Amino acid sequence: MKVFVQTFGCQMNVHDSGRIREIMRQAGYEPTDDPGDADVAIVNSCSIREKARHKAISAAGRLRQLKRRRTGMKIVFAGCVAEQDGASLFDLLPGIDAVIGPDHYAALPGLVAQAGAGGSPVATIGFDNGGPDNFLAATPGPDLSDATAFVTVMKGCEERCAYCIVPQVRGPERHRPLADIVEEARMLVGRGVREITLLGQKVNSYRSGDRSFTDLIEALDGVSGLSRIRFTSPHPRHMDDRLIRAFGRVGTLCEAIHIPVQSGSNGVLKRMGRAYTVERFVEIADALRDSCPGILISTDLIVGFPGETVTDFEDTLRLIERVRFSGVFSFKYSPRPGTPSSSLADDVVSAEKARRLAAVHEVTTAVERGIRESFVGKALEVLVDGEGRIPGQLSGRARNNQIVNFAMVNGSAKGETRGRLVQVEVTQALPHCLEGRA
Ligand code: 5AD
Ligand code: SF4
Repeated sequence: MKVFVQTFGCQMNVHDSGRIREIMRQAGYEPTDDPGDADVAIVNSCSIREKARHKAISAAGRLRQLKRRRTGMKIVFAGCVAEQDGASLFDLLPGIDAVIGPDHYAALPGLVAQAGAGGSPVATIGFDNGGPDNFLAATPGPDLSDATAFVTVMKGCEERCAYCIVPQVRGPERHRPLADIVEEARMLVGRGVREITLLGQKVNSYRSGDRSFTDLIEALDGVSGLSRIRFTSPHPRHMDDRLIRAFGRVGTLCEAIHIPVQSGSNGVLKRMGRAYTVERFVEIADALRDSCPGILISTDLIVGFPGETVTDFEDTLRLIERVRFSGVFSFKYSPRPGTPSSSLADDVVSAEKARRLAAVHEVTTAVERGIRESFVGKALEVLVDGEGRIPGQLSGRARNNQIVNFAMVNGSAKGETRGRLVQVEVTQALPHCLEGRA
């Protein structure tokens, strides 16, 4: 029997889909990339913006058409839209077999069996109490060949940013015991993983008893064989001095941080409920560069939040240039049901949001190009994770998270190099990556 999983959304969802495949494998389902070949097809959905929700619903619609030709195929609607919409998805998408929220994936095989027994469709949503067993650790099969892995440290969020649906679809904040995280990291390193990304909706507010997020990083730094630690995503409000200094002090903590700023206007930040000012954000960025020269800082931005004026928006453009972000993920504001800002008028018209998005891209592209060009002629340590764009090339990421494609000088076989750390001299900066030679 075969299972197909289609994933939308953030790294949390990508990680969850990995766990879904493992759970289904243990129940006798082989993963497949071809929905036409699947006995169970799972859509792991994202609800962060209406467009994301729509994509997942359309994907499930396509699977329903496939199901007409594949008798016995089961369709499971999973993830954040499942949590958001619940049983109403059965009305929207007649013919799907089950709806399951992010806290229930351990129950998937049972749910699928129940749906197969001809019972009425089932919806499983709501949140667990965050006990140690409520975090799904990786259970990699014998074929694990990745050099990088995610490890969940916390789930849920209680920050209640005005625009954000995450508290509704991922529930209250629950933190995993520190010892369990370190144990999972040890297991993964034992299986050849060299780089771990710690995951949480607000990862740097992590606590375990009296141990802080920085304590967790230090504990992981002691795992022998682990070369690199990253984390995503931190909230600026929880960027304390100890964490900032850790970037200069903890050898495995990489010189890159993704830290969502959302807006460069204090008025907008205030209405978003972000609890920091533009000045504080700039101070954090400067302190990070003080602590760790060369660190690259990337961010998320929303354009067209209710009441965002042209002046507010221009402040955001100025912030991009001031902080010199190495990457900016920018999004048009999308009102989400039940969020605090959904009661505000969505008063920036779509064409104006598009114009602002284009302006962000233009400024960002120029800043990014300057940053990438500054690496030409320098050496970067690359963790190889596969083949490059051109045959014979290898590809991987530098500690600062830049993608680097490079040619081996004495052409060793690619199989030998995955997971290896290679010193690469950068020869060229391209629009989305660097090129170099080992
Ligand atoms: N509309 C647009 N973008 C949003 N984001 C979160 N909620 C919304 C929304 N309602 C963006 C934020 C966040 C990223 C993951 O998605 O920038 O950091
Ligand atoms: Fe999308 Fe947020 Fe769910 Fe991630 S946690 S999949 S970003 S809604």
